[in-house]
Amino acid sequence: MQSFPRIAAVELPRVAVPSIDIDSVDIALSTTRSVRRRIAWERPVEREVIEQCIDVATQAPTGLSAEAWRFLILVDPERKARMAEIYRGAFAELGAVRADYARRTGIEPPREKPAHRFLAERMHEMPALILVCSHGRPDAQADTVARQVGFYGSVLPAAWSLMVALRARGIGSTWTSLHLMRERETAAAFGIPDDVTQTVLLPIGYTRDAVLRRATRKPAHQVTFWDDWGTRATTRATEAPTRQPAR
Ligand SMILES: Cc1cc2nc3c(=O)[nH]c(=O)nc-3n(C[C@H](O)[C@H](O)[C@H](O)COP(=O)(O)O)c2cc1C
Repeated sequence: MQSFPRIAAVELPRVAVPSIDIDSVDIALSTTRSVRRRIAWERPVEREVIEQCIDVATQAPTGLSAEAWRFLILVDPERKARMAEIYRGAFAELGAVRADYARRTGIEPPREKPAHRFLAERMHEMPALILVCSHGRPDAQADTVARQVGFYGSVLPAAWSLMVALRARGIGSTWTSLHLMRERETAAAFGIPDDVTQTVLLPIGYTRDAVLRRATRKPAHQVTFWDDWGTRATTRATEAPTRQPAR
């Protein structure tokens, strides 16, 4: 078994943990929605603000403290246009794949959303595009769930934190991954080394007239089990949990 060096105990200063404004945190986490249309197209997102958000995002967990995340920011119009071209290629390919699936099976896939097409068509106009990457490749090592979770779990939480940090500063973003259908093409276009894995692409911009609401989601008690899979809590905390069919 691998042994790790012992780490000397560190005495933490006895200061009060700063209190957190729970409402603000909950609002930021609950209203970080995709923003594709309501963007202040002409307003650049300042480099310092992006870096400030990345500094917040990289407080996310990182496996073995490796900090393998890397952020490629595209702001140059030609670079954004190249990324948008790749994204549109993948978008068109996905459309063709879905149409082919429907033809072969007679089953209609979920309908394409106009907002998704809008983003594909206007991506190059977004003030900035952030490609979140990680050093390493999951392919060689991701042969178990534990390793897949270890690999992506060390980078995707930072991507989500980045969206929330941007949201808190009035900057909208969208979690996209379609470009990964063309990962090699993207790597070649931007000089990304072979041993770097691309993850999500966040098109970002200050929001204009955006209304960001909580999404409709199932309540916690419908998606939560207690002590045993399938055991849901009753609505009253004092009652014993009931076993219900698990889904
Ligand atoms: C794994 C994953 C991949 C996604 N890929 C794309 C994408 O390629 N393009 C896109 O426009 N949105 C993409 N989305 C965003 C979803 O479409 C979005 O979450 C959905 O529109 C719900 O909107 P909301 O984020 O405002 O709740 C992706 C989301 C997830 C979780």
